[in-house]
Amino acid sequence: MSDTKAFFLTTPIYYVNDAPHIGHAYTTTAGDVLTRWHRQRGERVWFLTGVDEHGQKVMRSAEANGVTPQEWADRLVETAWLPVLDTIDAANDDFIRTTEPRHTERVQRFLTGLKDRGEIYEGAYDGPYCVACEEFKLPGDLVDGVGDYAGEKVCAIHGRPVEQVSETNWFFRLSAYGDKLLAHYEANPLAVQPQSAYNEVTSFLRGGLQDLSISRSTFDWGIPVPWDEKQVVYVWFDALLNYATAVGLGDEPGTPGAEQFAATWPADVHLVGKDILRFHAIIWPAMLMAAGLPLPKQVFAHGWLLVGGEKMSKTKLTGIAPATIVDHFGSDAFRYYFLRAIAFGADGSFSWEDMSARYTSELANGLGNLASRAPAMVAKYREGLLPVATAYTDAEVALQTLLASTVETADESMLRLDFAGAIGAVKAFVDAINLYVTEQAPWVLAKDEADAERLSTVLYTICESLRAIAVLHHAVMPKATTSLWEQIGADVALGPIGEQVVTDAGCWGQLPPGTTITKGAILFPRLDEPAV
Ligand code: MSP
Repeated sequence: MSDTKAFFLTTPIYYVNDAPHIGHAYTTTAGDVLTRWHRQRGERVWFLTGVDEHGQKVMRSAEANGVTPQEWADRLVETAWLPVLDTIDAANDDFIRTTEPRHTERVQRFLTGLKDRGEIYEGAYDGPYCVACEEFKLPGDLVDGVGDYAGEKVCAIHGRPVEQVSETNWFFRLSAYGDKLLAHYEANPLAVQPQSAYNEVTSFLRGGLQDLSISRSTFDWGIPVPWDEKQVVYVWFDALLNYATAVGLGDEPGTPGAEQFAATWPADVHLVGKDILRFHAIIWPAMLMAAGLPLPKQVFAHGWLLVGGEKMSKTKLTGIAPATIVDHFGSDAFRYYFLRAIAFGADGSFSWEDMSARYTSELANGLGNLASRAPAMVAKYREGLLPVATAYTDAEVALQTLLASTVETADESMLRLDFAGAIGAVKAFVDAINLYVTEQAPWVLAKDEADAERLSTVLYTICESLRAIAVLHHAVMPKATTSLWEQIGADVALGPIGEQVVTDAGCWGQLPPGTTITKGAILFPRLDEPAV
């Protein structure tokens, strides 16, 4: 194992009560794009995703379907949660399930350690609980119900009544960590992003924290509390630990687990939806502080995909399956669209029409058209061999300068998780090349032998620009860029696209003259009207 720490990125682990919708796929896509980008910066990367299998929410789905929770979880993982990773083309390094022994054993050991440190005590919980959130609520968190629930207090996120819980439980001394967390965030403003999320967390902390019930005694679908087997660990306490159990938390020094932990922890980015920000930016770091472990470098809360102005959700029957979109537009367009059209951190609405419009203008007509014209012209005018560029004019120098700044903007935007900014910068470069093709009109140059050298320079410039575009868009659109890479002969000349360093993409002149350019499949075929 290398001695440099990996760039470690996580997605939330998803509840297996139901199949994924595009809101879940959105988080995983963002994580996949960012980790592919870091890999292409030459960094060692660890990208973790997985599923959250315990708790009442999953248990009740299993009951409703007449199977055990474990059978239900196995079924959903095999038929829905693993396949969706292929659907969206995610290249995760690991997939954790919270029923795996590597997780349950490490959770139990962590819990025992906290108890030994005096961080856990027995107490009575009496208060509201939302099973859909799997969260103990404060009375102030509830709102007045409407419709069927008029006159009742309901969960502000799910609009459904909460349940009253009255149990003797084990408690974690969360209240002891409020000031320490606040001081940590004041000293590290990038530790919670975007700014709106930072503000939410710090203002919540200023209001003071209460201790947290971390076990449940009225059902048994969970990890047994090691010293009190009548109780199971509260599902969030179990789930948050996945980020560390997956990389060897608490293993004996000298073991592979301990080595992996040293080479991976702390996480660089926990990607979360804004609904689960407080769990990640308050409870989780307090658990780590209590155990004396380093804190994650950043929690980034993205917005919601909305339907009719509300969070897309299976509970509200508004979930769209990722395959519905991918089957029509392809996985590359799915990845491109959601990260380009919605500012990461803000809410956004999905609309089939908007996606079709962008697909046609930016992918089929923009990049796709450029990618198919270039090999066609090299075939027609230069027998499929990349010519030598002789004398560059101002037009080419301007493009080379634009490319250098595009690389800088894309990299700097990606590192801030401004996906739309990074993609927009590359798109602007694609537009500039398309304009260059129109202005230079190679088909006119081809008519006069006196313009032969000029034509060669123009053709070289277009293909070398496509080389850079393929590298810069690879993290977002792995399939189309791999095809483009092969069409311009770069796989033979320069090696696999995934090994091209993104920050070097602006160094001009990498594609050697004489490279064989071949016209391949259309990258973004024109599509018929929507199937739904
Ligand atoms: N199991 C917990 C997370 C535990 S992490 C230690 C959970 N699971 S979840 O399946 O309900 O949701 C997980 C995540 O899915 C959300 O935080 C968010 O990242 C994503 N999304 C679910 N619905 C979404 C939208 N409508 N829009 C965007 N993202 C959404 O919470």
